[in-house]
Amino acid sequence: MTERWISAGSANDIAVNDVRRFDCDGNTYAVVKSGDGKCHVIDGLCTHGKAHLADGFVDGNTIECPKHNGRFDVVSGAAVATPARVAIRVYETVERDGQVEFRV
Ligand code: FES
Repeated sequence: MTERWISAGSANDIAVNDVRRFDCDGNTYAVVKSGDGKCHVIDGLCTHGKAHLADGFVDGNTIECPKHNGRFDVVSGAAVATPARVAIRVYETVERDGQVEFRV
């Protein structure tokens, strides 16, 4: 499969420590703006129970799942709090002209 960049919309529409759902080509992603103001795109469904992480809570570099409170590091993808044990996929993400773009 060929890699490509996908635009996930304006970076300015997401507050610091917030997250937005983004659906594309039948996949669900979460666009996270971490505490330092950087955007990160991760898979949108929790690896534990498939809850939408866009309904979760961002604090610094972590996102907490709204269903069972598992947490993931949005930079590395590591599961950092149980019951989440399997890392979430993270995508290379850049901001270009105010737009969030990520590579799949
Ligand atoms: Fe996310 Fe269980 S569904 S921690």
